Amino acid sequence: MSGGYVNPENASSTGVTVGFVSKYIALEGGDGSGKSTVSAALRTRLEEFGASVVMVREPGGTPLGEAVRGLLLDSERLDDWAEVLLFAAQRAELAREVVLPALQSGKWVVSDRTYYSSIAYQGKARGLGVDRIRSINETGLDGVTPDHVFVLDVDPARALARQDRPDRIGGEGVEFQAAVREGYLDLGRTDSKVSILDGSLSVDHLVDRIMETVG
Ligand code: TYD
Repeated sequence: MSGGYVNPENASSTGVTVGFVSKYIALEGGDGSGKSTVSAALRTRLEEFGASVVMVREPGGTPLGEAVRGLLLDSERLDDWAEVLLFAAQRAELAREVVLPALQSGKWVVSDRTYYSSIAYQGKARGLGVDRIRSINETGLDGVTPDHVFVLDVDPARALARQDRPDRIGGEGVEFQAAVREGYLDLGRTDSKVSILDGSLSVDHLVDRIMETVG
């Protein structure tokens, strides 16, 4: 989806714009990294600049996605590859049903997680192989991939302490979260779409950094 779609209407009344091309932006990070708060603040900032914004989350965002979310996060146990494929399946549905139509109508899309989560959690932390997980997901997405990916990098122990009710994957413990973090840091070194941000910065500061990159 690189390049996005032209939206001639997203100039604000003050004449300030966020650029004429809508974009697909992903927020990523370990459990408890603060993505949801930053996504909401980013939405507000983009709207102040006249953009229409569609918010999505993974797993979820469609009826199928929300049903699969329950299976993924509430099951007592799940085979590792079943986990991978369920994440990928809900993601393909979301891409075609929600993300692509939004971009085609000139809207920005801000996503709380994308397939970069699968690369870090399933590929790296579960040890299933980052290349295989990337390839399975990119096959299902068929080009509907984020333009920019921002990882909120936080200390895993501190982030876990912020969680009051961890789900099945969030409850895997601090070593697992440390491996997830390594997965994201590797992506920051190897994938030009990925920016690693210091998650201990204020929300405003983080949104400033994101806007500098996407605006
Ligand atoms: P999320 O609802 O974002 O939880 P949190 O806000 O606590 O980070 O994500 C749910 C869990 O699913 C989280 O532990 C990360 C995990 N996950 C994967 O393991 N792979 C994936 O592809 C995705 C999207 C999420």
